[in-house]
Amino acid sequence: MRNYCFGTNMKMYKTRRDTEIFIKTLLDQLKGFHSDSLELFIIPSFPALETAGRLLKDSPVLLGAQNMHWADEGQFSGEVSARMLKELGVSMVMLGHSERRHIFGETDADLNKKLLAAVRSSICPLLCVGETKEEKDAGVSDELLRMQLKQGLFQFPKEGLHLLRIAYEPVWAIGVSGVPAPADYVAKRHDAMRACLTELFGTEGGAIPLLFGGSVNPSNAPGYLTAPNVDGLFVGRSAWDAENYYKLATSLFPL
Ligand code: PGA
Repeated sequence: MRNYCFGTNMKMYKTRRDTEIFIKTLLDQLKGFHSDSLELFIIPSFPALETAGRLLKDSPVLLGAQNMHWADEGQFSGEVSARMLKELGVSMVMLGHSERRHIFGETDADLNKKLLAAVRSSICPLLCVGETKEEKDAGVSDELLRMQLKQGLFQFPKEGLHLLRIAYEPVWAIGVSGVPAPADYVAKRHDAMRACLTELFGTEGGAIPLLFGGSVNPSNAPGYLTAPNVDGLFVGRSAWDAENYYKLATSLFPL
């Protein structure tokens, strides 16, 4: 059976208390849930991680962080290391979200160091890639995606590939002012990314989960999942309510 991933990034919205309520409600709904083919995850804010880690222990939901530094430790005030995250029960880290790239200036070279650090610590890196509207209009989306993948995954060890997840999130489709992407457009970008990953890693590149995100909602989600190379969904606003998260997760994927 094919494997899928589904999860949400809570950005800078939910407090520790909000996250606690979200998780308790979600776990209540997920009682008895088990799936070998669907990986669920949530990515709360840093201050909520400890509480989230405690609540999610032994649950079917993985805990992710929204960023991480590449060094094990050092003079990097305001940053967080892999070891600090692991201590809180974090097993996944989102790297290169468009807001990190475009508001905070993270480069592909920075992300490459972070990806390698995550894998060294056995944390699943969720690498986010995506083109801007200008890049789409200029017809260079696939070139841009190839560059982000090749630079971000430079010297990525083959033995760590089972940890890697990738999310394609067109910058123009994300957030309140985002325009949902047509499903056939997404299918083509995912095919191009798959071709690039196969070029980089051979047949093992074919097994790396490729998630789609950006204004995903209950009505457009099924369309995205019909594409052969869309292996899951990475959802913001539409999954910030625990019941909506549960409904999306359990209605869209074959369990
Ligand atoms: P959105 O967010 O679903 O609210 O567009 C997606 C994201 O930024 O990951």
